[in-house]
Amino acid sequence: MNIPDLLARLTIEEKAALLSGRSAWETAPVDRLGIPSATLTDGPHGLRMQDPAAERFSFDVSLPATCFPTASALGSSWDTALLARVGEALGDESRAADVAVLLGPGVNIKRSPLCGRNFEYLSEDPVVSGILGAALVRGVQSRGVGASVKHFAANNQETDRMRVSAQVDERTLREIYLAAFEHVVTTAKPWTVMAAYNKVNGVHAAQHPWLLTEVLRDEWGFDGVVVSDWGAVCDPVAAVAAGLDLEMPTTNGTSAARLVEAVQAGRLEQAALDRAVTRMLELLDRSAQAGPAEAVDFDRHHALARLAAAESAVLLKNEDAILPLDPEAGPSVAVIGEFARTPRFQGAGSSLVNAVRVDNALDALTEAAGEHLHLTFSPGFTLSGEEDEALLTEAVSAAEEADVAVVFLGLPEGEETEGTDREHIGLPDVQLRLLEAVARANRNTVVVLANGGVVETANWDHHAKAVLEGWLGGQAGGGAIADLLLGRVNPSGKLAETIPLRLQDTPSHLDFPGAEGVVSYGERLYVGYRYYDARDMAVAYPFGHGLSYTAFAYSDLHTTVEGEGEDAVVRLRLTLANTGSVTGKEVVQVYVGDPICSVDRPVRELKAFTKIELAPGEAAPVEFELRARDLSFFHPVHGRWVLESGDFELSVGSSSRDLRLTATVTVEAPPLARPLALESSVGDWLDDPEGGPLLMEAVRTMEGSGIAHDPEILRMVEALPLNRLIAMGGGRLDTTEIDRFLGGRTAGHGA
Ligand code: BGC
Repeated sequence: MNIPDLLARLTIEEKAALLSGRSAWETAPVDRLGIPSATLTDGPHGLRMQDPAAERFSFDVSLPATCFPTASALGSSWDTALLARVGEALGDESRAADVAVLLGPGVNIKRSPLCGRNFEYLSEDPVVSGILGAALVRGVQSRGVGASVKHFAANNQETDRMRVSAQVDERTLREIYLAAFEHVVTTAKPWTVMAAYNKVNGVHAAQHPWLLTEVLRDEWGFDGVVVSDWGAVCDPVAAVAAGLDLEMPTTNGTSAARLVEAVQAGRLEQAALDRAVTRMLELLDRSAQAGPAEAVDFDRHHALARLAAAESAVLLKNEDAILPLDPEAGPSVAVIGEFARTPRFQGAGSSLVNAVRVDNALDALTEAAGEHLHLTFSPGFTLSGEEDEALLTEAVSAAEEADVAVVFLGLPEGEETEGTDREHIGLPDVQLRLLEAVARANRNTVVVLANGGVVETANWDHHAKAVLEGWLGGQAGGGAIADLLLGRVNPSGKLAETIPLRLQDTPSHLDFPGAEGVVSYGERLYVGYRYYDARDMAVAYPFGHGLSYTAFAYSDLHTTVEGEGEDAVVRLRLTLANTGSVTGKEVVQVYVGDPICSVDRPVRELKAFTKIELAPGEAAPVEFELRARDLSFFHPVHGRWVLESGDFELSVGSSSRDLRLTATVTVEAPPLARPLALESSVGDWLDDPEGGPLLMEAVRTMEGSGIAHDPEILRMVEALPLNRLIAMGGGRLDTTEIDRFLGGRTAGHGA
């Protein structure tokens, strides 16, 4: 495509038409100039491609595709290579369906467990979300298909999602809600970013110049297309002016007409229109360069989906090593719970995939059982949630007869869906009654969970010796559960979201989902484990937690620091050993704390992780490299990332609350001059290398004042704004030099 030439030949009407869809899923072509249309569709854990033969818009008339585990599962794998492979498979299926852009991944932070769409998001932590999101993008795009990182930004609830304004201070935005997007954009170069429905600090995200242009493009260097979430644009002129390129879905030409009129009336710069058109043409050009599509190997993708589900499941507890079930010992197993036969394997809404096939755990267990394992099945409850005493009685007698009862519990489908938030995080009462009765009949009870967002466990997990969190495991999740229960695969997932003791403990509890069109992010950066750790609160299962059938030993942590300030590099090296009797994978996690800092900081924050497989008895060196940014915070006054000199606590471990090794490193950085003004405190003045001596000189010559000579008085006045001290001095403090200094400083700092 010769883009400058096309730009010169397109009429203003054609240009404007390129900036919105021609249908629900396609961009507008310009046949006269050979500019093709492109298809964008969901996303994120499978291709939902509307069946071209379907007569109406619906989420459930799509072509069959592989349904991979949803993001809350994949996030719990902490496995970048796996996410890349899933991305490649998604890319292959998209390519085969002639899709130019797959609408995912979702890297919004799980601010509250109540968000109805948490099943589509990776983590409560921006590092996990950013690293795994970037891996998925790289995988998809390696197949010549664009990804769309969504929903930019601060889209953390479904309640009033098209209007609500997320009120978030800049430091919190930068450190928590934007950080994953930043990582994906700067390292994986997604072809598109999707602007969210909601407002951020009063401005629609799809019309937000600071978000879409200053931060995304000017700071992070994003060179792709910003597409609106479907129906997110209120004012197409404001959107294009802010940096949005493509409004979806179609508006039947009304937005294009408004753009033309705005340019002609001088309300929208022609240059802004041309910039957006150029980026659209670049996207079409990128897509046109994709090689020929290959036939999709659905069996291979099914096997990958099974592996992904197994890598993502989290073994929360395992008393008496009740798992894995040992088929050789020939136990009799009562499989209980309708979900064993009718799995819940994905969420509802725009991400709903028409799965090519669906495995269930019951069939997979039966197939694997051979002649050793004796299985019975009782549904225990109905999916409609009605009480059924007969089902309960049947399940209890099956449990009484068996050596082990494996109970499949989970959230009903309607409780997690796009468009509404959850009202509570409890399992249905009928399931809890069943579990209690089964556990009374058989002490050897194991629970397998199916849910996208976290569920409360503290009110029931004492009934179970083992709990295996299977999430929404996708179309092959049933097989994966069988693999894990039988020890064919060793669990290696880790929680990417804290499981709180109760909903009332959660950081945003008093501020979720807001009211009257506003939601205040009052907990600031204390989201997830950052909050529970700062308040030293007990949780049910901490962030990063997940058990294995083997054990790992951590030893020999060595650290080095090279360079300082922006160039500082901290290296960590340790040894990890598998001290158990089976092969397993461990996720080694590195947390950083900055106990003494000029601003409040979380006790510790995840900064790096890696997943490593070791055979029994095997040991391996593990290395990490932290950069200045990993030690920095976003300075609310200076408006940039700042590294402050001092000691940093590094902890390495198996979860955020199972830290095995710690070290303290000292990192040097140039001191930061605070912008000084007459309103600054005497203390701030005294701390300043230039301002301090000036002020001391002025107070020394202040007639009849003891300040300069008496440290106690000096300490007392430290909190006084300088202008008050001047006023209280009644003209005795000579401010000539201070004024001269401030003149120069203000100009120099622009603050
Ligand atoms: C969702 C997006 C999705 C889009 C297209 C919207 O309602 O928020 O995540 O990609 O629809 O289906």
